[in-house]
Amino acid sequence: MKLSKFGTKFTRKAGITELMDDLGAAMAGGNMLMLGGGNPAHIATVQLRFRQRMETILGTAGSFESMIGNYDASRGNAAFIESLASMLSETFGWDVGPENIALTNGSQNAFFCLFNLFAGEMPDGTKKKILFPLTPEYIGYASAGLTDDFFAAQHPSIEILEESLFKYHVNFDELEVGNDIGAICVSRPTNPTGNVLTDDEIRHLDQLAKENDIPLILDNAYGTPFPNIIFTDAQPVWNPNTIVCMSLSKFGLPNLRTGIVIAREEIISALGDMNGVMNLSPGGTGPRLAHEMVRTGEIIQISREIIQPFYHRKALETLDRLREALENIPCRIHKPEGAIFLWLWFQDLPCSAAELYLRLKARNVLVIPGHHFFPGLDDDSWPHRHECIRITYAQDDTVVLAGIRIIAEEVQKIYNGIP
Ligand SMILES: Cc1ncc(COP(=O)(O)O)c(C=O)c1O
Repeated sequence: MKLSKFGTKFTRKAGITELMDDLGAAMAGGNMLMLGGGNPAHIATVQLRFRQRMETILGTAGSFESMIGNYDASRGNAAFIESLASMLSETFGWDVGPENIALTNGSQNAFFCLFNLFAGEMPDGTKKKILFPLTPEYIGYASAGLTDDFFAAQHPSIEILEESLFKYHVNFDELEVGNDIGAICVSRPTNPTGNVLTDDEIRHLDQLAKENDIPLILDNAYGTPFPNIIFTDAQPVWNPNTIVCMSLSKFGLPNLRTGIVIAREEIISALGDMNGVMNLSPGGTGPRLAHEMVRTGEIIQISREIIQPFYHRKALETLDRLREALENIPCRIHKPEGAIFLWLWFQDLPCSAAELYLRLKARNVLVIPGHHFFPGLDDDSWPHRHECIRITYAQDDTVVLAGIRIIAEEVQKIYNGIP
């Protein structure tokens, strides 16, 4: 097969592809303990609401037929967009209307479009990059540029906290936003660490973006108002210079591939154009299933009353279990502030996190080695990058607990020099 440059670039084994393959194999059955991947939990009460919504659609003349039989416009389902705009302006006072919202086939697809809108080769021949001001950052960004050398990234500063915790911060002393930066991007809450950038950090990034006349992309896949998997009081942010990306995935609908972008009108119109070329229109099942919940505000209520407490409890319990199991191991855990992950830092780990991942996989435990989560950071020699792993606590408690026990055993062996 003779591949184009594009073909070669996008068929390279990317971290995200390996991750999705592992996840797919584990979800297909077998006895793998799934502490890798980013699949949200199946929360029975939330799933029951989806089932009821689907039954109502099936029982309403014309609804099911419209769900499966009609293309939406290139920016996505108009009724859903209209209700979402009202909800966002009522909830947060954001000055947004339907012209400020586009839907995509999952927010992953939105990042591909947005990154390539603002970075890569510019019409004057210069090149621009997407800047991640804080790494570790979401693995899924890593290969989303159409050209090489597409990302720039920054080491974090590390705050050591009590009770074996730590927290990453943006190192503003070293952060440079040069002419070669086309947009700044952060996930908040952050996948993989569960970090929530402080309001001050966001204000500072917002100001830097404005000063440099570039957008600030805020990945809100786990944020407020839905799915609201956030355990701190962080303020949601939108202004005409920010691009807020949301998703129905972690609300419980990952397979309906519904991403949501909120931005100023010219950006939304550009995304609509890209949707048209790439997809004709984004899928309409997610928006139709969730529309009534958005219109009535139930989506906020479910997120606040069911989803957030569900993950918060699991985060705290998993943290306790980890502390017990890793008592004699030099491990720090990133302060859990949101998302569905815990980020474990094994200080001076005698092998790399990649080797640890393989040893755990051989024992039927899937985790994600941390080195994947530094998109744009060229510095491979920084030991910290090879001392961390990400685990998810979204799966059943028994699975998480069994996985933790094996992780502790294996890591203890590694520190003791046992092969
Ligand atoms: C931080 C973050 N952003 C974006 C995505 C993409 O999600 P989706 O394409 O399902 O909306 C994910 C998925 O796990 C994520 O963790």
